[in-house]
Amino acid sequence: MVSDLNEVFSTNARNMKKSVIRELLKLTRRPDVISFAGGLPDPNAFPVDDVATITVDVLKRDGALALQYSPTEGDPKLKDELIAHHEREDGIKLSPENILITVASQQGLDLTAKVFIDPGDPVIVGLPTYIGGLGAFRGYGANLIGVPLDDSGMRMDLLERELEKLGRKRQKPKFIYVVPDFQNPAGITMTEERRLRLIDLARQFDVLIVEDSPYKELRFEGEATASIFTLDGDGQVIGLHTFSKILFPGMRLGWMIADEAVIQKLVTAKQSTDLCTPAFTQAIVAEFAARGLLAKVIENVKGIYREKRELMLASLDEYMPDLPGLSWTRPDGGLFLWVRLPEHIDADELFYEAIEKNVAFVVGSAFHCDGSGSNTMRLNFSFPTKEDIVEGVKRLAKVIENHEGARRATGDVVATP
Ligand SMILES: Cc1ncc(COP(=O)(O)O)c(C=O)c1O
Repeated sequence: MVSDLNEVFSTNARNMKKSVIRELLKLTRRPDVISFAGGLPDPNAFPVDDVATITVDVLKRDGALALQYSPTEGDPKLKDELIAHHEREDGIKLSPENILITVASQQGLDLTAKVFIDPGDPVIVGLPTYIGGLGAFRGYGANLIGVPLDDSGMRMDLLERELEKLGRKRQKPKFIYVVPDFQNPAGITMTEERRLRLIDLARQFDVLIVEDSPYKELRFEGEATASIFTLDGDGQVIGLHTFSKILFPGMRLGWMIADEAVIQKLVTAKQSTDLCTPAFTQAIVAEFAARGLLAKVIENVKGIYREKRELMLASLDEYMPDLPGLSWTRPDGGLFLWVRLPEHIDADELFYEAIEKNVAFVVGSAFHCDGSGSNTMRLNFSFPTKEDIVEGVKRLAKVIENHEGARRATGDVVATP
C-alpha cells in the first residue's frame, strides 16, 4: 500500500463525500425501527411473475442478442417503446438519436457531470434538492449554488438574481438542475408558470436546464403539468428518466433525452464508463412494455401510494403536536413529503432522539448544498406498511412533543409577545 492514499487520489475523488443518507440509513436498519428514511418503492408492487415469464421468453427467443454486448446508445426496441411512452405521456415525438439508455438515472447524473463540469464551474441547484445530484456534481468539482424553493418550485426571482450575479463576474452556470415533479426531497411540483419562466431565463442567460424526472408518472391527484423538455422543444433541456420508481429499481435502467449533439457526447462518455447498458435487462423491460404491462404497473403503484400518502397525511394531522412553525407538504404524487419544524428545532438532533424511539427520517440539511435547512426533514411513505405509517407517525409526533417539553423545562424558550 502507498504511504498516503490522499496523495494519489485524484482531485475529483478527494471531492467525493460519502452520502450522509447512506451513513444514517445504517442506523435505521435495526428491525425495531420504523423507517421513513429510505426512498424505496413498495416491493408488493413488483411484477415478479410477469418478469419471470418474460425473462424466460426473452432468453428462448433472443438469447444470443440478450446475452451479448450491445450498442452504447441502447437497445433499439426499448428506444421504440420509450418514443411511444413520451408520445403518450408528453405528446412529443422523439427520434432514437435523442435517447440514451443508462444504468438508471444516477448514471445519467454522473454522465451529465462528466461531460459538462470542470472543477470550479458553477451549477445551480434547488434548496433543497436530490442528494444524489449534489454528490454527482460535487464529484466533478462543481461550485454548487443553491436557489430556494417555495410551494410552486424553484424561486425564479432568486434564480434571476443568481444568474445576474454570476453575469457580473463574467460567469454562467453550466446548467440549472431541477426535479420539477413531486420533488425528492420536498414533494413539491413546479407550476407551469415557473417552468415557462425557467425556460425564458435559461434562454436569456444561455444556460442548459437538466430536468430530472423520476416521479412525473406517479401523479395521484390534480392535472399533470407539461415537462420542461416539452415546453421548451428547442434543445435547451436535458431530461433524465428512470424505470426505478415506475417499475422497479433492481434492473438499474433509465434513459436520457436531449438534443442529438448532447446525446452523442454522453454516448462517448458512457463508452469509457461501462461500454453499454446490459442488453439482457433492456430486452426484458422492452418486452414488458411491448406487452402493455408497464402502464398496468404504473396504475397499480399509483393506487398503492395514493392510499399510503392519505394515511400519512391523516396520521400527521391527527398526532402531530400543535406547534407554531410545524407544517408539512401535501404532495399530489411521488414518494415523499417534507416536514418543516419550528426554526429552533434542529432535525439533526431530533434524528438521534427519534432513533432511540425506533422511528427514522432523513435530515433535511443533507439536501441543502449550503448546509441550511436544519429544521426540515424528509418522510417517505411508499415503503413502510400502512400499520407502520400510523405507528411511526405516532412515535415521531411524541419525539417532537418530548423535545419541545424538554426545551420548555430547561427554560430555553424564546419569549413571544
Ligand atoms: C430525483 C432523483 N434522481 C435520480 C434518482 C436516481 O434513481 P435511479 O438511479 O434509481 O434511477 C433518484 C432516486 O431516488 C431521484 O430521486
